[in-house]
Amino acid sequence: MLSNQAADPAKRKSLHGHWSSRMAFILAVTGSAVGLGNIWRFPYIVGENGGGAFVLVYLACVVVIGMPVMMSEILMGRRGRRNPIATMELLGAEEGKSPNWKVVGAMGVLAGVLILSYYAVVGGWTLSYVLKSGSGQFANATPEIVTSLRDKFLGSWSTVALYHTIFMGLTIFVVARGVERGLEQAVRFMVPALLLLMVVLLGYSIASGHFGEGVAFLFKPDWSKLTWDMVLTAMGQAFFTLSIGMGAVMAYGAYLPEETSIPGSATAVAISDTSIALLAGLVIFPLVFANGMDPGDGPGLVFVTLPLAFGQMPGGVFFATLFFVLLTFAAWTSAISLMEPAVAWIVERFNKTRAQAAVAIGLLIWALGFGTVLSFNVLSDFTFWRGTIFDNLDHLTLNIMLPLGGLLIVVFAGWVMCRNSTADELGGSGAVYKLWRFLARVVAPIGILFVFLKAVGLLPEFS
Ligand code: PFF
Repeated sequence: MLSNQAADPAKRKSLHGHWSSRMAFILAVTGSAVGLGNIWRFPYIVGENGGGAFVLVYLACVVVIGMPVMMSEILMGRRGRRNPIATMELLGAEEGKSPNWKVVGAMGVLAGVLILSYYAVVGGWTLSYVLKSGSGQFANATPEIVTSLRDKFLGSWSTVALYHTIFMGLTIFVVARGVERGLEQAVRFMVPALLLLMVVLLGYSIASGHFGEGVAFLFKPDWSKLTWDMVLTAMGQAFFTLSIGMGAVMAYGAYLPEETSIPGSATAVAISDTSIALLAGLVIFPLVFANGMDPGDGPGLVFVTLPLAFGQMPGGVFFATLFFVLLTFAAWTSAISLMEPAVAWIVERFNKTRAQAAVAIGLLIWALGFGTVLSFNVLSDFTFWRGTIFDNLDHLTLNIMLPLGGLLIVVFAGWVMCRNSTADELGGSGAVYKLWRFLARVVAPIGILFVFLKAVGLLPEFS
């Protein structure tokens, strides 16, 4: 009998090993959560959606939807101790309900594959910016120079493809070796270092003379900008940035030691993740305004604002290189977790080694990545539905698949699993448990469904 098939959940062990401590788990999930979503996507999405109102909706989504979904994923992962597909199948059957809940796990595996196909391309952009910074290309650069450097880079599909390939290679390498080895150490160093550098950058953006304007843009809501499509985008960003809705956290939860507090871990992750995103916003918008740039510049926003800032500061070549190295690391640890559900599934289901699974799924993702590589050059005029191939992948995965996955996950944890099972995992039925259960059963499902229906225009206007 496989060691993860014990009848008593407390005796189950994951086939892939366990985290060495509570801290190791928090670090791994933080490594997954903190990434391009915080530093690359958050600022440009806020910029495109008009600032403050979007940020407040996003924060509300993190608290009332993100937290219960994250806790549900961890508790399900730890109880099942398998890949997300097998975990949902097992828990469904164990609770006397349908094993077909595994479809939710399968959708998560697919979402991970699709997201990584474009995430790795942007990871490649970051990697190339390590070299650009290191070779001093940003020293004393003007807004025109950094913009043209970026446009030239994105315009060359073969260069972008090269870095995408390297980034995917690095990801496959770590996933093949096993999640625990190396990841813990990397994250332990990376998150504090990234935070520190962001604070240095913050000092610079405060000195830019436009800090107040940046803060106002980020936090002062202009409710006239609010649309349901925007609320859906804010909700999608909350899911993406916390790595939830697709089973990545569930997969990591499968390696969580029995005694670790789930609410405590989830809170620690959400706080560090949100702080880094807000810090990125506080760094970037003052710089945007100080240099007369457009906050709605789109996916290339950080690749012009930050090089510009670094180019003007003393020691800029060093700081810029360090920053992009750290951002590449952050993207790398997230990319690893995007692949983990698929790899764990292949290993368990088809009895393959981690290396075989990582190479097979990695090659597929690499090939899919060309849709995004070409979206910024050769195929930039090839648009349908939401825009380019990249725009469509982004919308489909973040704004549809993740919230839908999250909805089904909280419904599963809140309604399908019985009280005893969930209370057992969440450390008893005290106030925290009651709050989780209320959010998971009522607030999060209704919230997600409501935003969905509103965004596609299926609910009437009230006003
Ligand atoms: N949370 C990551 C980021 O903000 O960059 C992206 C991500 C990783 C999303 C893992 C989903 C996931 F499962």
